[in-house]
Amino acid sequence: MEVLDPRFRHYMLQEIHAQPRTALEAVAQYLSPENRTKSIAGIALPEEQVQKLERVSIIASGTSRHAGMVGEFMLERLARLPVKVDFASQYCYRDPLTEHNELTVLLSQSGTTADTLSALRQAKSKNARTIAICNVQDAPLAREADGVLYTHAGIEVSVAATKSFTAQLIALYALGVHLGHTRRSLSAQETRDHMNDLMALPEKIEATLACAAAVEVGAKKMKDAKSFLFLGRDISYPIALEGALKLKETSYIHAEGMPTGEMKHGPNAMVDEHLPVVMVLTRDATDPQSTLRWERSVALLEEIAERGVQVTAIVCQDDVATVAKHANSVFAVPAASTLLLPVLEIIPLQLLAYHIAVLKGMNVDSPRNLSKSVTVE
Ligand code: M6R
Repeated sequence: MEVLDPRFRHYMLQEIHAQPRTALEAVAQYLSPENRTKSIAGIALPEEQVQKLERVSIIASGTSRHAGMVGEFMLERLARLPVKVDFASQYCYRDPLTEHNELTVLLSQSGTTADTLSALRQAKSKNARTIAICNVQDAPLAREADGVLYTHAGIEVSVAATKSFTAQLIALYALGVHLGHTRRSLSAQETRDHMNDLMALPEKIEATLACAAAVEVGAKKMKDAKSFLFLGRDISYPIALEGALKLKETSYIHAEGMPTGEMKHGPNAMVDEHLPVVMVLTRDATDPQSTLRWERSVALLEEIAERGVQVTAIVCQDDVATVAKHANSVFAVPAASTLLLPVLEIIPLQLLAYHIAVLKGMNVDSPRNLSKSVTVE
């Protein structure tokens, strides 16, 4: 059993604060310090098969599926492969259409989730090539898949997945860089740049944790709300879903995540001063597309703030002053590339869910009706 360090009241908080270390561990496994080349041999996917790949399916449940949704953006942009993400609990009842040159990636912290195992068996029965991305060594999912990529996050005790989620994002990014490099969708220089970005990530996670005290203060303002809306655009949309899931499971508060751009297609009508909105408003200032998306999101922020909506925003350090004019609480993360920002964005949202749960007196590490590993379908 993992020991609870006396500095932390709960495993969830300890595991949130472990993320700089677990990220460092994962990065060290995927990149060799001498020549910075990839080391993900466990996926057991020969170069000629990587060249022939035509499609990727990612299948998972809960938090792991949210990581898979971030992975969809990573793999599409790095390896230029079409990616489809599915709920394991849906896939396993389907008669899925798998292509000959399709890679099926099963993501799971525990490697014992019944729905995900069942999906793996379904994919294998269709002759799909399978890779498990798994945290627990030698778990059934890791043993049964054709290849495995371990996430190296260590034992996670709290039911709410935190450090295993960021470790999954790092594994997916390393996989994307590997596939992109092998398929030549990334040049040698681009591959090196992505590896350097990955190497710099653990320190950025550490810097992000500096928001912890501010998040605790923000949680006090929000704890009595009956419902929350989480918004994120593009690759940050799955982070909005994950922020909402963390709040639901630890605080039992209704929360919904949706793409920021969908607000004008209906949900905007229900937003008023009684529905706090949490917006992921980061951007990679060196990426014009990212800035364009950010400007559109800021326009929505201004509009809803004028209607008296309580907005909490996750922003990059350089944008704090601009966004703070309209938001009630602003939590900052360091600058990072578009594909790696999600790893930082989720940290204030994990802390927000944690502190609201503590303030409401919840059983943070073992929420009612849930278990760490869902071994029945
Ligand atoms: O062990 P797995 O990653 O397969 O578990 C899947 C979900 O049950 C899990 O991610 C669940 O959603 C989390 N406990 C939420 O924090």
